[in-house]
Amino acid sequence: MREYPLSRVFQLLEPGPTVLLTTAQAGCANVMTMSWLMMMEFEPPLLACLVSSSNHSFTALTATRQCVIAIPPASLAPTVVDVGNCSGAKVDKFTAFGLTVLPASQVGAPLLGECFANLECRVADDTLVGKYNLFILEVVQAWCDSSWPGLLSSDPERVLPKTIHHNGDGTFRVSGETLNLKDHMVKWPECL
Ligand SMILES: Cc1cc2nc3c(=O)[nH]c(=O)nc-3n(C[C@H](O)[C@H](O)[C@H](O)COP(=O)(O)O)c2cc1C
Repeated sequence: MREYPLSRVFQLLEPGPTVLLTTAQAGCANVMTMSWLMMMEFEPPLLACLVSSSNHSFTALTATRQCVIAIPPASLAPTVVDVGNCSGAKVDKFTAFGLTVLPASQVGAPLLGECFANLECRVADDTLVGKYNLFILEVVQAWCDSSWPGLLSSDPERVLPKTIHHNGDGTFRVSGETLNLKDHMVKWPECL
């Protein structure tokens, strides 16, 4: 083992899927890129995500307490990075990047047609927003692109869309090989 700089620790843990977060306030929708998020509960699904208070999206998310988390395929990666490098305060990113907005059913923020999954979310807990910009979201409705039947399958051989995972420096890993370790996913009798 050799020493690793604290300033780069996030690059070891960051590579969850990079997603897009949409909001809408007063008839004005916006979208930002986000890679700092984690699951917290199975059902109802809860997730935690960090939206910096310097982002335009923060204002809308705080005011409306609603958003959509849209999961992009790897083919959308250049757009995802562009979306994360300009602000909705200055640019209509949907027009600028040719993103297709679709109406959500339970929140005012739009779904994104180019994404293979869209999660309609409400803020479930904002007690850590003031200190950390950390929002706890409940997914109240989820959608997936029907052209990816693997998303609803439990077959280990299912085909899933490739996702992008930020290394924290503008490079990304693309999800790839599936390891099927289902036969290990049983509790040891000694541990029951
Ligand atoms: C790959 C990538 C990941 C990002 N992850 C986050 C994140 O997790 N949280 C965050 O607040 N900003 C993140 N950003 C930055 C925002 O997407 C960026 O500040 C964006 O311009 C905000 O847009 P807005 O001002 O329209 O809300 C990320 C940017 C990129 C390119």
